[in-house]
Amino acid sequence: MSGGSAANLAVELAGVRFQNPVWVASGTFGYGDDFQTIFDVSRLGAVVTKTLFLGPRDGNPPPRIAEVGGGMLNSIGLANIGWEAFRERKAPWLRQHLPPAQLVVNVAGNTAEEYREVALRVDAARAEVGAAALELNISCPNVNEGGTNIGCDLRLTREVLREVRAVTSLPLLVKLSPNNADLVPFARLAEEEGADGVSLINTLYGMTVDLHSRRPFLGHGSGGLSGPSLLPVGVFWTYKVHQAVRIPIVGIGGIARAEDALQYLMAGARAVQVGTASFLNPFASLEVIDGIARFLDRHRMDLEELIGVAHERRPQNVPAAAAAV
Ligand code: FUM
Repeated sequence: MSGGSAANLAVELAGVRFQNPVWVASGTFGYGDDFQTIFDVSRLGAVVTKTLFLGPRDGNPPPRIAEVGGGMLNSIGLANIGWEAFRERKAPWLRQHLPPAQLVVNVAGNTAEEYREVALRVDAARAEVGAAALELNISCPNVNEGGTNIGCDLRLTREVLREVRAVTSLPLLVKLSPNNADLVPFARLAEEEGADGVSLINTLYGMTVDLHSRRPFLGHGSGGLSGPSLLPVGVFWTYKVHQAVRIPIVGIGGIARAEDALQYLMAGARAVQVGTASFLNPFASLEVIDGIARFLDRHRMDLEELIGVAHERRPQNVPAAAAAV
């Protein structure tokens, strides 16, 4: 329930109960404790951590962020404090203050072995840190290893998934890249290899050129596009992947308001992640929760009735190409 609403927002996903379907996306909410003075993070459905490697990483050279029309580019390069520092310095606060919100630990590595190793460590400490699920980042567009080199290659995706699935029984979500012509084969592969869900989408390749220096503005050259312009892309892939797999979808991309999240839910997502919007409005995720509750109240609907409803109501006059999705 949310702010005076009668709506039950609880949702089950990958065997885990979330008090509502609104999570905050990896890389846009630090490690959860960064928001402790801003609002009560226990109201969220889940916090997804910044991607954690086994050890700390400095990431890409600055500038790492650029505001562009329709959103922003980031090229952080998966800078992070590393798993052990997270476990020692961040997890104790989260353990105490996050429930009933869930903790989803996002991980990556430079090689399949590193993915396996970090997954193994999270699995071993799952009770200590309160990890409800793992989200595997194979789709960062800003690194040479541990990113789109894997998430845009079916063979490498399979290899990483096998390594990780073999060492953890934690619910496993795989975060997919929109920098593929088709996400469906990747979602099907994830399902085949025992993933419990897919998170989609990560950011799209992008670049902005600085007119003064006449060079790419970002230190790394290119970046990943996020923000409002990603909304129709993410909704499209959610709709299409929902038709192709049975495992649940967590929708990501351009969600700033409840109306955006509702599109993902109607397209078939069981949960959504608010990302870039939190930079502009730190309360965006809470506003999305309250807005979904109001919508359900107003339409006297259950959340379950809403999820995937767009597939039942396809208009008869959709052109052939669009109808084929
Ligand atoms: O550059 C970054 O750290 C971005 C990560 C991601 O998009 O997964």
